[in-house]
Amino acid sequence: MAQRQARIAFDPRFTVADVPDRLFGSFVEHLGRCVYTGIYEPGHPTADAAGLRGDVLELVRELGPTMIRYPGGNFVSGYRWEDGVGPKQDRPRRLDLAWGVTETNQFGLGEFMKFCRAVGVEPNMAVNLGTRGLQEALDLMEYANHPSGTALSDLRRSHGDEEPYGIKLWCLGNEMDGPWQIGQMTATEYGRIADQTARAMRMIDPSLDLVACGSSSRGMPTFGSWEAEVLANCYKSVDFISAHAYYHPGDGDIPSFMASAQDMELFIDGVIATADAVGAELKTDKKINISFDEWNVWYQQDWEKSEHAKWVEAPRQLEDRYSAMDAVVFGSLLITLLRRADRVTAACLAQLVNIIGPIMTEPGGPAWRQTTFYPFAEASRHGRGKVLRVSADSPGFDTDKYGEVSALHSVAVAGEDGSVTVFAVNRDLDRPLTLTVDAGALESVGSVTCSTLTDEDPDARNTIDDQNRVVSVENKTVTTEDGTISVELPAMSWNTIRIRP
Ligand code: AHR
Repeated sequence: MAQRQARIAFDPRFTVADVPDRLFGSFVEHLGRCVYTGIYEPGHPTADAAGLRGDVLELVRELGPTMIRYPGGNFVSGYRWEDGVGPKQDRPRRLDLAWGVTETNQFGLGEFMKFCRAVGVEPNMAVNLGTRGLQEALDLMEYANHPSGTALSDLRRSHGDEEPYGIKLWCLGNEMDGPWQIGQMTATEYGRIADQTARAMRMIDPSLDLVACGSSSRGMPTFGSWEAEVLANCYKSVDFISAHAYYHPGDGDIPSFMASAQDMELFIDGVIATADAVGAELKTDKKINISFDEWNVWYQQDWEKSEHAKWVEAPRQLEDRYSAMDAVVFGSLLITLLRRADRVTAACLAQLVNIIGPIMTEPGGPAWRQTTFYPFAEASRHGRGKVLRVSADSPGFDTDKYGEVSALHSVAVAGEDGSVTVFAVNRDLDRPLTLTVDAGALESVGSVTCSTLTDEDPDARNTIDDQNRVVSVENKTVTTEDGTISVELPAMSWNTIRIRP
């Protein structure tokens, strides 16, 4: 069989957008073992004085998230933030209806802020618009952001945090369209509450960045009409509309799973078209951008079929173990977010540790990298600067859901130092690709390297006993001649090509 060929070309003068810092966000929810025995485990041999696991902090720094959304997720819709502040012995144990467990509240806002400072990320805080509303959102803001001299700001100071937290990015509730959500609302109800909450929060601080809930997925029956109605109510008072998407093969064909980014692109197109239509009707030049604040591969069907003991503390929930194939699909989702960075200006990988996370831990034991760790870490590290317009030509492969889809999925990012990084996925499960990169428009092409994540076994995973079964390794097939680079992309692979001046 002749080797399949793909080609891309770009010119650093032609750009899509600056890569927004917030594109590499992640998410910590009070869910399963994300917090407890994930990032927080006071008895762990590596724990610091605040109970944060040192081995996890180190891996999070290496992963490189820029922002972390907290405390949910579905959890936030039943959460009383004040349960999680103040002396630990006084914190109440509560039923968490979202996940059917007991919440001990030993970790709360103060601990989360310590975690954010320890790993150097921006906090992204969600308010409860399920069982609570405007007043509690204002109380939380006063506790978190007001310097001093009021009941709640002084309460924070009495809890040991003299300085305000300065949280700038806030989510107005979570997935309020979902029948599973505590306090689900219609679009009209939610749009009005989001608007009122946003306007009142801005009375405390007009410079906040506020996210209204969009649809919980593109598959929701109200997708589109939900965004239109919510934004008709709160367009002027918010900055972002959220999007959430999780991908898994389900009962479908694997090639369609490999092409999941097609769905993500359609989702982004649909939300932007809807938001812009509302803006056009309002005759405003203000644009609402997307906060893609939950995205990942998630084998949801396994979770739906699983049984859990009720009201236990921090059980093993949603602990997907990612395969090499999952990491390639995951990388392709990241490529989509970068390609659409003109309008997707915030995003959160859901989630960070244990819960559908790139990092796994054992209580009292080790922490290790899942396969999905590598694409995220490489994109966060090297995908900074300006997204370039890329022209691409690639052979295709057949999928049941999307018809023929190109095997190559790629994006190029120009750094300030004159380097360009190409992230490229070969989505074809069986056939390798020779990729030719026309870098002739660059002033110079110095050293070129490529790292590749793939495996002959699509199902290969990293486990506690074999933590480095699937890793990114140097791809030694790179050649360069007169500004043209050539590299072999194995079937089902994620690749990071670094072109230095
Ligand atoms: O990330 C897991 C859950 O998925 C979140 O709690 C919820 O917002 C979404 O449905």
